[in-house]
Amino acid sequence: MVDIISKKRDGASLSKGEIQYFIDGCVDGSIPDYQTSALLMAIYFQGMEDRELADFTMAMAHSGEMIDLSPIKGVKVDKHSTGGVGDKTTMAVAPIVASCDVKIAKMSGRGLGHTGGTVDKLESIPGYRTVLDKDEFFNQVNEIGASVIGQSGNLAPADKKLYALRDVTGSVPSIPLIASSIMSKKLAAGADCILLDVKCGSGAFMKNVADAVTLAEKMVTIGEHNGKRTMAYVTNMNMPLGQNIGNALEVKEVVDVLNGKGPEDLTKECEELSATLLMMAGKGRHSECLAMVKEVIKNGQAMNKFKEMVQAQGGDISVFDDLDGFTKAAVCYEVKADRDGYIASMDTEAIGIASTMLGAGRETMESVIDPTAGITICKKTGDKVHVGDVLAVFHTSREELLSPAVKRYLEALNYSQQTPEQSKLVYAVVDKNGVKKL
Ligand code: URA
Repeated sequence: MVDIISKKRDGASLSKGEIQYFIDGCVDGSIPDYQTSALLMAIYFQGMEDRELADFTMAMAHSGEMIDLSPIKGVKVDKHSTGGVGDKTTMAVAPIVASCDVKIAKMSGRGLGHTGGTVDKLESIPGYRTVLDKDEFFNQVNEIGASVIGQSGNLAPADKKLYALRDVTGSVPSIPLIASSIMSKKLAAGADCILLDVKCGSGAFMKNVADAVTLAEKMVTIGEHNGKRTMAYVTNMNMPLGQNIGNALEVKEVVDVLNGKGPEDLTKECEELSATLLMMAGKGRHSECLAMVKEVIKNGQAMNKFKEMVQAQGGDISVFDDLDGFTKAAVCYEVKADRDGYIASMDTEAIGIASTMLGAGRETMESVIDPTAGITICKKTGDKVHVGDVLAVFHTSREELLSPAVKRYLEALNYSQQTPEQSKLVYAVVDKNGVKKL
């Protein structure tokens, strides 16, 4: 292991055998955490060449179960976000594509740090089970078309080990480490088509478009190399997506999208991603698929599908009849502007942290989530504000959490006196033929 670490430290490429030795030792515990962490940091600084990254990803994917989705009939699609703030698209995309007769058997993660996780969000619905056995999972997808559950314990265990160490050693934002982490899980999860949503900006691991596009290209190459139809969107995470951050609050916003009443940015992104998944599954050209998506939202089929999925997984769908009751926190506090001007930019990571501080996320793996905690944003980048305007509403169960979270939030906003430039929602789309900048 010392030789492997030294080789990477000095910028050489690791052989397939060396990679296999490392991944095996990680999973069976024979390599101590300090050596694993040292190699991760060496990879962070030296990167990986394409062949090495492909071998690393495959070794991680094969470190656990490779799920065979063949008992599910038809084309199976999957999507994955690299992690953002207010990113609740999976909960809307799954029922939308299922309403258009494309199957989605999705394993999602939990939030950590400033980013949220779909599993935590769905668990805010009373009774919703994110653990299903394989037969139940497959049967549900065959019957309803969609299921969203937590990641099975034995899916890419090498990633679990490496991710936990990266998280505490400052080596998360590395292009080869993110690409291999995500793609090992996607390859092991068994879908035919994979759509990646690479977040870019102040709330994402990738802070600039060039790095985000490189990450997208690497993941698309890995997917296509392994026989999966793979595409990636590079999308804006310089402000939270939609208006709500926090678990029940995000479920509420998804219901709004599915009822055709969601915020514009979130609705557009959910429609785009859904249409692209349908196109990848062979349902037609992108414009035709987009029309299908808009139709199932308009005619209520997508919302009904969401209810079917939630009910099949034990969730109490009566909460959708009283969304204000479902999201009501003990304490609601209006954060007001202390100056005039335009919001020029938002430090989205800090906003995610403010929401975590209210109880919506985990500060450590052991933290217990408060399902109704979070932030409703009233003013975003580009909006004009006057002193006293409500910038956001904070929701929490514990009043004492408010003051530090408010401070963090206010510090995350930058003002200007001129109208800021309108920002794009999608920066680029990447497929096997290359990068299309938008
Ligand atoms: N999401 C993952 O699953 N892995 C990473 O490394 C980053 C985001």
